Amino acid sequence: MNKSYDVVIVGGGVNGGSIAFQLAKRGFKVALIEKDQLACKASHAAAGMLGAQTELTEDGPLFQLARKSRAMFPALADELRELSGIDIGLVNKGMLKIALTPEEKGEFKKIISLQRQLGEETSWLEPEELKKYEPELSDRILGAMYIPHDGQVSAPDLSMAFAKAAAVMGADIVEYTEVIGFILEHGTAKGVITNTGNIYADKVIVTAGAWSGRLLKENGIYISTYPVKGECFSVLTHKPLIEKTIFSHGCYLVPKKGGRLVVGATMIKNTFDEQVSLGGLSGLMERAKVILPAIEKAKWEKAWAGIRPQTEDGLPIIGEHPEYEGLWIATGHYRNGILLSPITGLLIADLIERKPVDEKLLRAFSFERSSIIQA
Ligand code: FAD
Ligand code: GLY
Repeated sequence: MNKSYDVVIVGGGVNGGSIAFQLAKRGFKVALIEKDQLACKASHAAAGMLGAQTELTEDGPLFQLARKSRAMFPALADELRELSGIDIGLVNKGMLKIALTPEEKGEFKKIISLQRQLGEETSWLEPEELKKYEPELSDRILGAMYIPHDGQVSAPDLSMAFAKAAAVMGADIVEYTEVIGFILEHGTAKGVITNTGNIYADKVIVTAGAWSGRLLKENGIYISTYPVKGECFSVLTHKPLIEKTIFSHGCYLVPKKGGRLVVGATMIKNTFDEQVSLGGLSGLMERAKVILPAIEKAKWEKAWAGIRPQTEDGLPIIGEHPEYEGLWIATGHYRNGILLSPITGLLIADLIERKPVDEKLLRAFSFERSSIIQA
């Protein structure tokens, strides 16, 4: 294979797919290269929460990015369905961030006040109000932060829909092909070296998730990232036990269609081991039973694990490498890569097209933070 493209994207997860979709839509000749199958890693493991207000509790660039991305989902769901035929499973029934201790109750009330000042909708529910929404929740819960606009999607469907829509717009999807190196000439990226040959392109975008840092390092380019494993399991009931996503420190429950309930997730740093451990699952099960006692009678379905890509400063990397012209990187989306995927695709495409962007916001995710390229 010795083909030539405008852009070659390394990694067919949700972020590679989103960028491929945005660029193909704008007329770029794109190749999306995936070493295994599309959306087989973190983007398959994810619970699909769009937890802008639930997961991100401080004001700052990441919160702003997350709010912008969350707002893109309704139109995107329609566009992706139209192009790919895939329903991304967007559900907008809100999330409940529950307090199990007085300290959490105090903390969540402060977050409510901050988010309201920032113009977001959220309110505190006392236990009796909470029970009206979700009668199966435990009596041990001291109340909840209600976040009506944090929805959820099916993460694997979203990831597949991006890639298939990109293909419909002209992108080449190349699976079972591993990128092993970069073609760099005088500090400029000219393409990638794969296990099946070279692919030439004016721009190379690395979206290899938790494996991005490793791939770059093997080629002498350092970015400061590390993997964080997450394990989940799912159960089935005939009648859904909950309607809204329930989020707490160390355990969340996400109701999916057909009576499926996803419970996640563990957080294990610095490992690429994708096996599910008994210790991880039993801890999640104990927490889930405290929150939702009726889960005990649900039918077991399956368990799985995925590897989140995290950066040393906790912010994603979205931009062009300062030392290699044409080498772009979009990774480090950590716990929120599904939520942030629409805006990641949009921003990279805008930057490549040299369209006006919110430079102040983007600076926070760019290589201007020198810490991310220092060992
Ligand atoms: P990935 O999905 O990991 O994709 C990278 C791709 O690159 C892979 O397919 C891989 O095979 C490929 N690749 C790697 N190396 C190469 C190479 N050399 N050549 C070619 N291809 C290569 N986020 C949310 O927003 N909401 C959630 O509810 C949520 N829940 C989560 C639950 C769990 C258990 C986990 C693990 C993560 C969760 N996340 C969630 C985070 C989210 O899944 C990730 O941030 C996101 O999927 C990262 O997407 P990505 O495309 O960057 O990476
Ligand atoms: N955002 C949920 C997780 O990463 O587990």
